Amino acid sequence: MFTDKGQCRPLMDFKGFDWAAATDEERMELALADVNEAGMSHNELRAILLGLNSFGKKPLVTVETGLGYGFSTRIFLTHAAKYGGEHHIFESLPGPRPIIEMLKELDLWKYATLHVGDARKAVWPEDKMIDFLNIDSEHSLGFVMNEYMRFRMNLTNGSVVGFHDVDCCWGVRRGIAMIREIDRIHLLCDESRHAGAGYQCYIFRGHDRPDCNYWRRFTGDESFYADEGVDTIPNSPYMASELKVIPFREPETKVWQGSGGL
Ligand SMILES: C[S@@+](CC[C@H](N)C(=O)[O-])C[C@H]1O[C@@H](n2cnc3c(N)ncnc32)[C@H](O)[C@@H]1O
Repeated sequence: MFTDKGQCRPLMDFKGFDWAAATDEERMELALADVNEAGMSHNELRAILLGLNSFGKKPLVTVETGLGYGFSTRIFLTHAAKYGGEHHIFESLPGPRPIIEMLKELDLWKYATLHVGDARKAVWPEDKMIDFLNIDSEHSLGFVMNEYMRFRMNLTNGSVVGFHDVDCCWGVRRGIAMIREIDRIHLLCDESRHAGAGYQCYIFRGHDRPDCNYWRRFTGDESFYADEGVDTIPNSPYMASELKVIPFREPETKVWQGSGGL
C-alpha cells in the first residue's frame, strides 16, 4: 500500500518483512517510509546505499552520529540484516523516539547499538576498525571535526566516511576541507548542489601526516576548536594545522532544534 505522498509507504507495511531478501529499492522505500520532515532526501540516502554496496556482500562495522528520524539508520540496519555486521549510533538525546520502537517492531533494531551521549566525546575501542562512518549530528565545524577526530584512527584504507548537510552548512564543508589537509580522502558519491541538504561520502586512503599534532587519538577531555567564534565565522582563515587541541568545552548554545520524533 502506498500513501498519497508518492513513494512513501507506511513503515508498518514492512512488518514481517524478509530482510535477507530485501532489494535496494525496498531498502530505499523503507528509508523513506512515513517521512514527515525533509530529513534526508532520496538521493542522499541512495549515496549511503552506494557507499555500503561498494563493499559488496560483506558484514560491516558501521557508525553514525545522530539518530534523528533514523532515515540513514534504516539503510545501515538493512545492510546488517542482509549481510551481517553491526551498526553503532551515537546520539545525545535518545528519546523516547517512536522510530526506535518501530524499528524494534520491524525486527531491525537488534542490529543497532545505541551509544547515548555526546558524539564529540565518543569512546571507541582502539583496535576496532570502522568500514563506514556517517557524520550527521550538529553541522558546525566544531561538531564535524570533533566527531571525525574521535574515529579517525579507526578508519583504514577503503573505509568510507560520509557527511550530511554539505550544502546548507558551512561548517561541514570547512570540516571536509580541513580533513583533506590531514588525511587522504577521495570523493566517492556526491549528492550536493541539488535539492536537499547535500550529502557527500569519501573513500579513505590513509593518514598522510603522521607528524601533525592531530595524529593521535583524542582522549576523553580534548576538543578541536580554534579561537572563540571559529564555528560561526564563515570563510574563517583557519587551516587544520592552525587549530589547537584544547580542553573540551560545551558550546554556548544548543543549536539543534529539530523534533526528531522526540
Ligand atoms: C540531523 S539529525 C540526524 C538525522 C539522521 N541521520 C536521519 O537520517 O534521520 C541530528 C541528530 O543528532 C543528534 N545530536 C545533536 N547533537 C549531538 C551530539 N553532540 N552527539 C550525538 N548526537 C547529537 C540530535 O539529537 C539529532 O537526533
